[in-house]
Amino acid sequence: MKNQGKPIYVLGTHLSHDGSACLLKDGRICVAIEKERITRRKHAGGNDADAVKYCLDFEGISVRDLDLVVQNANFGMVKQGNSWWAGPRVFDENIPMVTISHHLAHAYSAIGTAPFDEMTVLTIDGCGNSLDECIDVDQGVALENPPPHLRHLYFEKDSYYQFAGNKLTPIVKDFSEWGIGINGYPMHPTTTRHSIGGLYLAASMYVFSGFEDPGKLMGLAPYGRAGVYDFEMFELKDGRAFVRDDWMSNFKKPARSWTELKANFQYYADIAYWVQKEVERAILYVIDSRYDACPSENLAYTGGVALNAVANARIIKETKFKNLYIQPAAADNGLALGCAYYGWMEVLKKERVKHSGSMYLGKSYATVADVLPKYKGKVRGAPADDYIAQTAQLLAEGKTIGWFQDGAEFGPRALGHRSILADPRKPEMRDFINSRIKFREDFRPFAPSVLEEDCSTYFDCDYDSPYMILVAQVRPEWREKMPSVIHRDNSARIQTVNKSISPKYYELLRAFKEITGISVLLNTSFNRKGMPIVETPEQAIDFFLDCELDVLVLDNYIIRKEEFQVRQEVPLTKLFTEDLQGALQRNSVEARKLGGVYQINISGVRSWTIDLSKEMPSVVEGRSNGRTQTTISIEESDFNALLTDPENESVKLYRSGKIQIEGSPVAVMNVPKLFGFK
Ligand SMILES: [Fe+2]
Repeated sequence: MKNQGKPIYVLGTHLSHDGSACLLKDGRICVAIEKERITRRKHAGGNDADAVKYCLDFEGISVRDLDLVVQNANFGMVKQGNSWWAGPRVFDENIPMVTISHHLAHAYSAIGTAPFDEMTVLTIDGCGNSLDECIDVDQGVALENPPPHLRHLYFEKDSYYQFAGNKLTPIVKDFSEWGIGINGYPMHPTTTRHSIGGLYLAASMYVFSGFEDPGKLMGLAPYGRAGVYDFEMFELKDGRAFVRDDWMSNFKKPARSWTELKANFQYYADIAYWVQKEVERAILYVIDSRYDACPSENLAYTGGVALNAVANARIIKETKFKNLYIQPAAADNGLALGCAYYGWMEVLKKERVKHSGSMYLGKSYATVADVLPKYKGKVRGAPADDYIAQTAQLLAEGKTIGWFQDGAEFGPRALGHRSILADPRKPEMRDFINSRIKFREDFRPFAPSVLEEDCSTYFDCDYDSPYMILVAQVRPEWREKMPSVIHRDNSARIQTVNKSISPKYYELLRAFKEITGISVLLNTSFNRKGMPIVETPEQAIDFFLDCELDVLVLDNYIIRKEEFQVRQEVPLTKLFTEDLQGALQRNSVEARKLGGVYQINISGVRSWTIDLSKEMPSVVEGRSNGRTQTTISIEESDFNALLTDPENESVKLYRSGKIQIEGSPVAVMNVPKLFGFK
């Protein structure tokens, strides 16, 4: 047992996909991290050793200093174990450990960080724990009552609680059976039969051919047309949303790549429009029903569905709740926060310590001076006292800036600590950043940050949106003045910037306003498509060197590329979809002779399919949906080496195990040929 007077440490850890860990010190968050930021693999989950060690190292403590660990994992992982657990965990039997269920962890993540004293709490997501694993259904709150032997087949879909007097009381919990039996259609529930989040994910996978970011559907929706699909996706009755299945046979053409989506853009945009509207209808119905079950002024809202910024603005405007707080890491990455707060409040019976509102929960890296020498000859930079004023000037001159300050944001949005910034007045910025920096789809909008006190000047918005999780309309008189942060329907997903929470970013916006008269900046996360947000200064510099960002501001250092480094490394998207495709098509007869369908996986996060089986060779981003004869997996740095000398490097990399090839052994011989066409 620890000495009296020492801090009380509670660690929360989440082990399913989007794993994370969070350390509370005397009831306050001192550090939290998503596992993907460490492993550099999107949505990383399973074994929590990396994330837990990050938290312990930050605080300079060992596991023996922990008073309590609270964990969560869905799909029976805690009870039954799972291959995701591979590798030893850091805890031993002397550390008290409590396991809680999924929606309870979501709920506590919102309670712990909400600005309210009393509130109701709502979780809506894709799929939580099964009914037999839930520890919060003892009071007759479940809307499903299957016989005991079937309880393991019913999963949490939404849960509503009341929080008052430091105590959480479940009010209503809805469950759905597993979605087995209706997977004959390309767009079908992916997990539970009737969950709103599960169906949104299914629609996103239909349109974007992957799990990467269901939120892209929300960005595509404004390109769709009303009335193309007029049937109902959900049946709404008795306060519950049920997924109908009579529409599923209408959707038989899932996109397998961005190229396919682009070729039928209006078809997929119309689907996105319909799905978004139907999902909004279901969310509002459920929320109205929950309000009737237990009215309150303050709603704390979480779960993956709470990331739908368009639906969230409608909750503010159209429901009876007066105030809305959305926990910014609303998807499963936020569950570690909830586990930690559950431990503090429910297990240790401690009073909630109000959260500051800051989501900058990562550790700082005060090592720029140590890091820069490693990049000698590639970048040059020096500290500057007036780095904020200089950055504002560069932005006003049209430069794109990588802005890296202090500890990283926890959650999916960059809020001014790991951001790519640009001038919102310049219409060309959107296409330039999408195609030359982030390598993502051209329809995707960018969001604005704005000084909190100026928000209503530019936007039809009388609420704060500190976490970029609410949309508002841009006022008509400003629409032509900030074209790069306005979506097709004149909306914008806003971040209001508060001086005490984000002092440097606030200062930057203020300095930009002094020069330009406008206190708005384009703000997007410091990563490219498929990559977790950069965590360390080294990752920021590597990224900077691999794209067309103009300037990197690392703490107070202004960093530029050495002249000969500019564009020396070719971005992957250009390399595959322009250079390689061009080379193969120029040599189509030889490529056809080579034959086969190849899938190239780069660093485990990006894939391209090269089809040499047809008359005209094709290269498309994405996996090949089972047509592959050969799969080649390689790290990006090794791939760059391979391109310099395909003949020799392929052999070297293969022998050292750095290039993995599945499929026909003969295919090994094809690798240098594949990348040798000019
Ligand atoms: Fe969840």
